[in-house]
Amino acid sequence: MGNIRVGIVGLGRLGRIHAENIANHVPGSVLQASCSINPEDLAFAKESFNVSETYRTFEEMIESPNLDAVCIVSPSDFHPEHIRQAMDKGLHVFCEKPIGLDVADIKQTIDVIKAHPSQIFQLGFMRRYDESYQYAKKMVDEGQLGELTVIRCYGIDPSSGLEQFVKFAGASKSGGLFADMSIHDIDLVRWFTKKEVSRVWAMGKNAAYPALDQVNELETGAAMMQLTDQTMAILVAGRNAIHGYHVETELIGTKGMLRVAAQPEKNLVTVFDEHGAVRPMSEHFSERFKEAFINEMKEFIACIKECRQPEVSAFDGLQSTRVAIACQKSVETSQIIDVQYELHHS
Ligand code: NAI
Repeated sequence: MGNIRVGIVGLGRLGRIHAENIANHVPGSVLQASCSINPEDLAFAKESFNVSETYRTFEEMIESPNLDAVCIVSPSDFHPEHIRQAMDKGLHVFCEKPIGLDVADIKQTIDVIKAHPSQIFQLGFMRRYDESYQYAKKMVDEGQLGELTVIRCYGIDPSSGLEQFVKFAGASKSGGLFADMSIHDIDLVRWFTKKEVSRVWAMGKNAAYPALDQVNELETGAAMMQLTDQTMAILVAGRNAIHGYHVETELIGTKGMLRVAAQPEKNLVTVFDEHGAVRPMSEHFSERFKEAFINEMKEFIACIKECRQPEVSAFDGLQSTRVAIACQKSVETSQIIDVQYELHHS
């Protein structure tokens, strides 16, 4: 099989990273086309990656006879429709998280994906492709921590990204803090435990950034969850980590516990200066998960070439969005919310 020709939609904060990876870091793939409503994005794609086809609409791009696959990095509320359109055109699909913001819409999308079983579908839960998370997952699967009892997750964006986030949230639907940020942690909880979340209690607080009230977004949220086997999960999500990009996960089991990125360090350097001994922190998702973004795209291309479906499925997308919606509802109603779940992974 020759190079896989990919068309990308969305060239914003993350789209530019995927574009670069497809063009330069994933052997066997070619960035054939790009699509954005913003002409500056298209000029950037031409200049930076020598993309031969550029389009202002997704519908036009998928009409191109030169594509094998699409990479969907458009705003979250476009994902379901873009997935359905690309699948119906016979294209393989990589889609960023969340798969969608509405359960009925996602279910309809899953029906379309299922109707095209020979086309690859992968969802962008890139943490599963991070070296440290894979190491932790292996330990859990081998039973080294015993039976898991509690999972604690922090997913907090840097304050430095807040201005850009307010623009992003004002211009499109993010789905709120839980669908946008905690969705990664919800996926990790399901991935590590192989269990579903059965109920959640969540709350939030805005303190430092009134601009977030205006776009109806939370600055900090916390959720407590119970899984089907009584395992507990505690999630903290936010947009105001003054020190950098704080993604940390703790797994507590009957035989031991582990932490991934107990301090979200940038590297192995310690600086000794007037502040004392300083460990620089990871600044942004693009830095912390640089390799994971490349690894997940390599997996997508490998799946296409080897005719196999990846581990991260559309069903994982549906379940994680269901939990995120329940968290949002819990904040709004101050109630504990039961989450609907299906026990079979299809
Ligand atoms: P952004 O707002 O920076 O970029 C969105 C891009 O889509 C822009 O190029 C915009 O012009 C384009 N666009 C908007 N509407 C469009 C349409 N109808 N047709 C074609 N292009 C359109 O957004 P960002 O931060 O890059 O997020 C994009 C997606 O990636 C979101 O779904 C977000 O949840 C996800 N994301 C995932 C991350 C991860 O950790 N895996 C990190 C950041 C974002």
